[in-house]
Amino acid sequence: MVFRPVTGDDVATVLDIYNHYIHTSTVTFDLDLWSEHDMAHKIDAVADLGMPFVIAERDGDVVGYAYLSTFREKAAYNTTMENTLYLRDDARGLGLGRLLLAELMRLGSESGVREVIAVIANTADAAPSIRLHENAGFVRVGEMDRVGRKFDEWVGVVMMQKSLSHD
Ligand SMILES: CC(C)(COP(=O)(O)OP(=O)(O)OC[C@H]1O[C@@H](n2cnc3c(N)ncnc32)[C@H](O)[C@@H]1OP(=O)(O)O)[C@@H](O)C(=O)NCCC(=O)NCCS
Repeated sequence: MVFRPVTGDDVATVLDIYNHYIHTSTVTFDLDLWSEHDMAHKIDAVADLGMPFVIAERDGDVVGYAYLSTFREKAAYNTTMENTLYLRDDARGLGLGRLLLAELMRLGSESGVREVIAVIANTADAAPSIRLHENAGFVRVGEMDRVGRKFDEWVGVVMMQKSLSHD
């Protein structure tokens, strides 16, 4: 797998990857499909923050993406970012998530991020994500129950945290 920064040409591909999960899964709390404009706006917002938005390619094909974005708006949170990563549905279960998350952490560290927060649905859909984050050194720091409603079910979240630097 090779990694590269996202470009404007990736919008439609990344959108397809993400919209699949909006439509089929509780791993995202979005309910309505995103438009190309929404995804382009997210890419711009991540760039404006100076944070990585990385594309994973295998044999020239985009198989996933990951980025770091604002965890909380208030300025004192500026060295803490929330992570997001999605593999194309048919690229799951091959161990690619581990490599993509490791690359995102490396880039985050280079960008001066100190703490990374993963907010993960506490559902069977997200079990691989929770496991992936545990394996990558994220520590479970909390849970919130019934904070989302999707597919006629109340959904909670697990909060996980990883420190990228200490002093
Ligand atoms: C989450 C995601 C990035 C993981 O990447 P992946 O390469 O598919 O990861 P794997 O299939 O290798 O699974 C990761 C771990 O979960 C475990 N796992 C898989 N299915 C599982 C299940 N149903 N229950 C518990 N653990 C499970 C795997 O065994 C593996 O753990 P191990 O390495 O200790 O054996 C990827 O599946 C994905 O994009 N999922 C959809 C989007 C998503 O959930 N994104 C994260 C939002 S927070």
